Amino acid sequence: MNFLKAVFILSALVIFLNACGDPAKNAVDNAANTTAAHGSNSAAPAPSPAATADQLAAAREIYTISCSNCHKEDGTGGKVEILGKTIDPDDLTTDKMKKMSDEKYIKYIENGIPDEGMPAFKGKLTDQQIKDVVRYIRVELQK
Ligand code: HEC
Repeated sequence: MNFLKAVFILSALVIFLNACGDPAKNAVDNAANTTAAHGSNSAAPAPSPAATADQLAAAREIYTISCSNCHKEDGTGGKVEILGKTIDPDDLTTDKMKKMSDEKYIKYIENGIPDEGMPAFKGKLTDQQIKDVVRYIRVELQK
């Protein structure tokens, strides 16, 4: 009885170790590959738009959190029901919206359009965040 138990535990241990062994080795291999890839990347001619990409990523997050539930992820807007009220957020990707000046965007975002259900973001987003989100709309949604 005890002997069988020991054999059982031993073989379970062997199976366990085998199962673990490979993924661990793979992880090490992957890590090595990643490091190698990074190494060759940094050897490439210095890419400068890194800061821009970061800014855009930050602005995308602001847009996703603060705007997309009404204007949609892709900016096209359209009727939505929010808190039991149907509102009709503008399509931010139209020619009309492409022509509208940054200053006007900033005013609309700061002050909102309370009667129509567009909230005011003054005090909720910083001036820089508002500028970044306008840039995001220009670069990513109106391209
Ligand atoms: C709660 C829903 C809601 C959220 C959140 C929201 N909006 Fe709006 N937005 C609206 C509605 C509704 C209108 C349309 C108002 C109207 O009919 O004139 C609008 C209008 C606008 C306009 C004016 C368009 C025009 O035709 O002049 C801009 C610009 C705008 N939104 C940008 C944004 C940005 C940027 C964000 C995120 C920071 C945002 N909105 C968040 C509902 C929303």
